[in-house]
Amino acid sequence: MPKGTYYFPEGFLWGTATAAHQVEGHNQNNTWYAWEQEESRITDGHKSGLACDWWGGRWREDFDRAQATSQNAHRLSIAWSRIQPAPERWDEDALDRYREMLIGLHDRKITPMVTLHHFSEPLWVAELGGWENEAIVDLFAAFVKKAVEALIPYCDLWVTINEPNVFAVGAYLDGVFPPGEKDLQAALKVLYNMVRAHAHAYTIIHDLQPDAQVGTAINYRGFKPATWVPLDHWLASIHSKLFNDLFPRALMDGQFRAIIKKEQIPEAAGTQDFLGVNYYSCDTVRFDLTKRREMFARRFYPEDALLSESGFIANLPDGFSEAIHWGRQFGVPIIITENGVEDSKDILRPRYLVEHLHALWRAMNENGIVKGYFHWSLVDNFEWERGWTQRFGLWGLDVDTQARIRRPSVDLYAEICRTNGISSEMVEKYAPEAMKRLFP
Ligand code: FCB
Repeated sequence: MPKGTYYFPEGFLWGTATAAHQVEGHNQNNTWYAWEQEESRITDGHKSGLACDWWGGRWREDFDRAQATSQNAHRLSIAWSRIQPAPERWDEDALDRYREMLIGLHDRKITPMVTLHHFSEPLWVAELGGWENEAIVDLFAAFVKKAVEALIPYCDLWVTINEPNVFAVGAYLDGVFPPGEKDLQAALKVLYNMVRAHAHAYTIIHDLQPDAQVGTAINYRGFKPATWVPLDHWLASIHSKLFNDLFPRALMDGQFRAIIKKEQIPEAAGTQDFLGVNYYSCDTVRFDLTKRREMFARRFYPEDALLSESGFIANLPDGFSEAIHWGRQFGVPIIITENGVEDSKDILRPRYLVEHLHALWRAMNENGIVKGYFHWSLVDNFEWERGWTQRFGLWGLDVDTQARIRRPSVDLYAEICRTNGISSEMVEKYAPEAMKRLFP
């Protein structure tokens, strides 16, 4: 077998990503906490509980782990519900705590990236109609102003909204996220309000910090037609337009093209300094008359695909290269804001990791400008409506004892971060089954 190393550009960001509700624990003032209390919303009735106890201070030991394993960046989110627990109340202690966390990252030579909305908001915002109510644009703006003002000295890399596409589908179409609606019109309204809220936040952040880098994190999903039948092709393309293109295109040219809802949002044009891409997998799409709510698309994984532990993710690294090619159309640098796989036994993860990074390397060599990669995630955390049934951490978590479990992928990723590349020795050692593909 040939030997060699795929090197990444100097200064490449190598990190992990997390989100407030998934790691902090004991936040009782947000939509997800309330959702967890309702019967049968979360698999096996799981609750976030203490999560990874970051609010209790365990972020320190986890940041130590990130530092000791050569990560030079970390993406975390801050909770609106903690910073503004009521419409007229700002919690300075909460801001202090986030300040401390960002200083903690700097002390460890880790560059922070902060997400301002990651799937959850305060209960009082939900009571006002949440993202369906246009008032959210100004409410979010006030929160962003307060939070960014407080955190400016420690961060200049901002994600306004995480996965607006997944949020709109999960919360307003599939009904598996709070508020559990199943209404396409509502989902589109929410996306429209999110574009406006992002645009407003973009301006606010740049007014406060002119050299800030501001973007969103879009979940890119490949949609492949199952057959040559034109209907399958048409469906795959519609799904891609709505799910992938809609949001970042609106931020590029101010046109909101939602097929049945077309609007101009001129203030959104030119409001992304980078494109955050979250990539996990691709779907095959086939026309199916019984799937009315899924817009007549039956989605599935190829029969021969390697699946993750619960079947949630198929290992399809070519889709990752495609994601980068797709992202180039927006004319801004790309940051991989999430990529990873659920795997408590760490059987597939090493292979998934090297094959995806190799796909990324390939796409970068074909002119995709990518500035960094954030693996999801540093440590197992609360996986939304799937609770604790999916384990995405490099480190495992024993939820009862808070013990961290070092998985082999920790050491693989550490070597990648430290050497800024993937070598044949690493692949041979940690994921020999990927040798054929990476070093043929
Ligand atoms: C993404 C979310 C993230 C995490 C991963 C597995 O859609 O942004 O919070 O749940 O999936």
